[in-house]
Amino acid sequence: MPVITEIEDLKRIYRRRVPKMFYDYCESGSWSEQTFRENSSDFDDIYLRQRVALDMANRSTATQLIGQDVSMPVALAPVGLTGMQHFDGEIKAARAAEKFGVPYCLSTMSICSIEDVASNTSKPFWMQVYTLKDDTFMQNLFDRAKDANCSAAVITVDLQLLGQRHKDVKNGLSAPPKLTPKSIANMMTKVQWGLGMLQTKRRFFGNIVGHAKGVSDASSLTTWTAESFDQSLNWDRIREFRKMWDGPLIIKGIMDPRDALQALNVGADAIVVSNHGGRQLDGALSSIRALEPIMDAVGDKIEVHLDSGIRSGQDVLKAVAMGAKGCWIGRAYVYGLGAMGEAGVTKALEVIHKELDMSMALCGHRDIKGVDRDILMVPKGFSGEWE
Ligand SMILES: Cc1cc2nc3c(=O)[nH]c(=O)nc-3n(C[C@H](O)[C@H](O)[C@H](O)COP(=O)(O)O)c2cc1C
Repeated sequence: MPVITEIEDLKRIYRRRVPKMFYDYCESGSWSEQTFRENSSDFDDIYLRQRVALDMANRSTATQLIGQDVSMPVALAPVGLTGMQHFDGEIKAARAAEKFGVPYCLSTMSICSIEDVASNTSKPFWMQVYTLKDDTFMQNLFDRAKDANCSAAVITVDLQLLGQRHKDVKNGLSAPPKLTPKSIANMMTKVQWGLGMLQTKRRFFGNIVGHAKGVSDASSLTTWTAESFDQSLNWDRIREFRKMWDGPLIIKGIMDPRDALQALNVGADAIVVSNHGGRQLDGALSSIRALEPIMDAVGDKIEVHLDSGIRSGQDVLKAVAMGAKGCWIGRAYVYGLGAMGEAGVTKALEVIHKELDMSMALCGHRDIKGVDRDILMVPKGFSGEWE
């Protein structure tokens, strides 16, 4: 077992073990990837204020996210095709999350279905839904989430159309994947991954095939995907979704204070400041820079979470100190999953927890709930004074 001390170690192993087309699918942003890069690098512009001779014993990173107890302010973000990164990937990630005491959010575009994840885990998870045109499918998705005892629905609002990621086009990564001779040759070199995939029947979009009208095979899925995403989405439509789900609701993909206010008005319980990990609007601000104006607009009225770019516990600490109640991680746990399955997701969570806990202590705090902006040194203009 290699010595793993940071998320980057997991990424290196992940890259070796998983077929290139799925590694590329995860490790890319849209167009020039500027936003993808800056999501992480902008955290480096914020500094932590070291304190000394303050009692650092008996620390706690425990808090609550939408009223649910969590062992640290971190949730696993919805990631499509997780089951192609490692066999039964969604089930493995959800199990690691529940053992660690953090929420797991299942994607609409998952390989394992809602029912599958529910019957292979013991704690409620969150269900992410895209804003699709088909009302029957949407209501059915919310009902299935309710039947599976999901404890929150997450509506992703930043994907009315799919951002272009060049590598996916070149690799033939579409729904479903079009295998090129090159990607087949590459897959054949990933023996462990391949043996895992041969063990499972879960290799297709479990929430869609057999549930969406007329989708029974690969070619009908392509047509359905192309036709389903709703480019004419508006807040009235989102209000309709709110009526379809009577549990806690989180709206994910907010980058502007005006949209945060809209999310508040439709009755969301929380929002996620997110640019989809830099996979949608290239040239958008990093989410950490977008956080403060949103906190100013709605921070005292609604719970605000943040994702995009988090690769360490220091990143989590900085976002929490700036006001986020919690952070979601996407790629950081996918690296772990692709590297070592469930044990790798656990390792990713352990790494982030250790970094968060020790950094908090060295900033002079013992309880994550007491951390505030005072621990940060933020350069003037960081959140922008834009024209
Ligand atoms: C490979 C991949 C697939 C994703 N699929 C979804 C998805 O199905 N639904 C969704 O709401 N967000 C999806 N996201 C966005 C994540 O939920 C999250 O916003 C993003 O990964 C956060 O950035 P990070 O990866 O830098 O942590 C995906 C992200 C990645 C990397």
